[in-house]
Amino acid sequence: MRRKLVAANWKMNGDKAANSALLTAFVQGIDTAAVDAVVFPPAVYLDQVASAVAGSGIRYGIQNVHSAEKGAYTGEISLGMVKDFGADYVLVGHSERRELFAESDSVVAGKVQAALAAGVVPMLCVGETLAEREADQTEAVVGRQLQAVLDIVGIDAFATIVIAYEPVWAIGTGKTASPEQAQAVHAFIRGLLAQASESVAGKCQVLYGGSVKASSAQELFQQPDIDGGLVGGASLLADEFVAICQAAKGV
Ligand code: 13P
Repeated sequence: MRRKLVAANWKMNGDKAANSALLTAFVQGIDTAAVDAVVFPPAVYLDQVASAVAGSGIRYGIQNVHSAEKGAYTGEISLGMVKDFGADYVLVGHSERRELFAESDSVVAGKVQAALAAGVVPMLCVGETLAEREADQTEAVVGRQLQAVLDIVGIDAFATIVIAYEPVWAIGTGKTASPEQAQAVHAFIRGLLAQASESVAGKCQVLYGGSVKASSAQELFQQPDIDGGLVGGASLLADEFVAICQAAKGV
């Protein structure tokens, strides 16, 4: 049985006071014996998150990383630094990184490979734009994004990697994919992995992201190939995020 995982992607939001209130509510409200919970704060707040969640079972990670070990990369953060703060996860290939910061499939694959080598779990984001969906290209796009990583790290690495399917048209729009739409793509993703290894495909946690709310979470999480959620806006609201974690626990 795959455990459910619910992740909070705070994106470029928050401040010390607001983070502190959110984290207190998360620690009190989330049952980490029943569900994996991960918080992705802006990097400058990693230490604050580390202290606030210590001993709670809530884990945390960084929203982006550089694949090099160290050196002259002004403004970048390495996996070694992330580990220094006790972080277990790194988001890789979020659509905002792909779109706004021109991250190619091969840059994304390099970051996944570097994270695995460093012992940090990559949460690999994939997903199509509205134009791609309307052109019936969803599977082609998601397949291409996954294949680029498979080609570099191989199938066995996917027993460790977490995949987040985030249709770009559902991110921050309030337009959640229907459970059926999401399940169809999740089944495609698992099927693609299964072509290389049934057992790895059975182990890989595949999350859905895109306007997940407490009101839509349960039905999404009941789908056979949806193993939890990557939550943006609703992860900045304590009650909403705790309720989403409860929904994951309940299925
Ligand atoms: P929203 O939940 O705000 O749509 O964001 C989803 C997302 O991009 C999480 O990574």
